[in-house]
Amino acid sequence: MSDKKDELLNHEYDGIREFDNALPRWWLYGFYFTIVFGIVYAINYHGLSKPMWGQPGMVAEYTAEVEAANRLAANRPKAAGPSATLVALTDPASLQKGQAIFESNDNLCHSCHRKDLGGLVGPNLTDNLWIHGCTPAEMVKNVATGFPPLGMLPYGSGKTLSDEQLLLVVSYVLSKQGTNPENPRAVNPEREKPCS
Ligand code: HEC
Repeated sequence: MSDKKDELLNHEYDGIREFDNALPRWWLYGFYFTIVFGIVYAINYHGLSKPMWGQPGMVAEYTAEVEAANRLAANRPKAAGPSATLVALTDPASLQKGQAIFESNDNLCHSCHRKDLGGLVGPNLTDNLWIHGCTPAEMVKNVATGFPPLGMLPYGSGKTLSDEQLLLVVSYVLSKQGTNPENPRAVNPEREKPCS
């Protein structure tokens, strides 16, 4: 090897020439080390289901994350999605609380739907005709998101209601079905459909 030292190779690119010297040992050993390390690492983390070093391994991490997500989903209030089954409350105490929310100046439901729910800016909520769905879950969602382009902010006024309060106010609205208030807002048959 030593007789080859500083022997020029027989090529030249843009004036650059190179020696055929051996790589420095420290560099070579570092290179070998990365190869061995890479193989051990790949087997340890990607090959073994339970790694010999490092915790807890991909499979266990994945399982733990799925379990955590399932726990979260199970604890989420039922009101979270329109597909969730939600049952309207009918006991007088709950309906009274729902009425208090409907008539409060925090959420302003009454200012657009009227105190008797006959409708003003918003539609009549006492007939069995609905634009956006009539199940408690759909209505909870409608009240939570509102219809901002039409004036109804989330929760009526933008002031947040808890999931429990949403169910209370929706239960109150549903309890007023068929009450036939005087001079209700006119029905828009194009948009308002019977509850099925
Ligand atoms: C600023 C006016 C305004 C306020 C305040 C308001 N709404 Fe509305 N609401 C509307 C309008 C307008 C619509 C109709 C949206 C449409 O035409 O698509 C509506 C629609 C609804 C619907 C759906 C009706 C259907 O036919 O599907 C429900 C339920 C409802 N409001 C309940 C409430 C409740 C409960 C509150 C209080 C938390 C509230 N609204 C506050 C204006 C209002």
